[in-house]
Amino acid sequence: MKRTLRSSLLRLTKYLSLPHKVKWKVGALDEIAFWDDHIAKYYASTDGVPKDANARFRVDPSAPLQKELADLLTDVRDPVVRLLDVGAGPFSRMGKTLAGHTVELTAVDPLTTAYARLYEKHNVFPPVRPMEGRGEDLRSLFPADHFHLAHANNCLDHGYDPIRSVQQMVEVVRPGGHVYLRHEVNVAQGAGYMGMHQWNFHLDDQGNFTISDKHRSVDMVRLLGPDVTVTSRTEGLFLITVIHKHDQRIN
Ligand SMILES: C[S@@+](CC[C@H](N)C(=O)[O-])C[C@H]1O[C@@H](n2cnc3c(N)ncnc32)[C@H](O)[C@@H]1O
Repeated sequence: MKRTLRSSLLRLTKYLSLPHKVKWKVGALDEIAFWDDHIAKYYASTDGVPKDANARFRVDPSAPLQKELADLLTDVRDPVVRLLDVGAGPFSRMGKTLAGHTVELTAVDPLTTAYARLYEKHNVFPPVRPMEGRGEDLRSLFPADHFHLAHANNCLDHGYDPIRSVQQMVEVVRPGGHVYLRHEVNVAQGAGYMGMHQWNFHLDDQGNFTISDKHRSVDMVRLLGPDVTVTSRTEGLFLITVIHKHDQRIN
């Protein structure tokens, strides 16, 4: 689709009252175009190694797991750690190795077909290919209590029901495991509710992690209830929330 037609459609999503799923589909065209340009600029290279350091990290199968994520796994005794990256995009940002463990990383994204075309087009391939799936549907893809850590960066607020996505992430992590969320504060407000940007992640007056759209606001701490502990902090433009799923066997 021509760039001008795509941007006109995208602008319309700001003003028309359409269901989230319709705006999501228009936004998806823009997301794919973004990655096409981004991969061409930062990932593609003539010798197979991207010049950009962030891109190099993402395509490196031996890149270490980020310290703040590794710190959530210090109690894990299992030799294999199961990690989930939700809304991973074409190249998961998560490190792929952790000292003392074998890392089993599963990446999930709803735009995998388009991303597969981009790998071929730019001749650059991720060490872990995302599988097709949405945050809202994780329980149809994975068993409950399965992952040691589920991570989502800058993506659940691009979905059509991030409240459900967070609940699904909590379900698929093991008791004692963690959900790690990193999203720009109030991204939908900032983007004028355009395309995929229909949801705001923020803290309410009591400092509770909250998800809102134009019509409602949900206190996620209350919604998730007493079986988890939710901690949030802001770092620059981003809200970082860590949800610890209690292990009911330990009292
Ligand atoms: C800005 S990209 C971020 C990708 C990656 N997390 C990163 O940090 O590079 C947003 C991603 O969210 C994905 N996304 C959109 N709707 C989603 C949903 N309902 N569930 C999971 N991911 C979704 C998009 O396909 C896209 O790959």
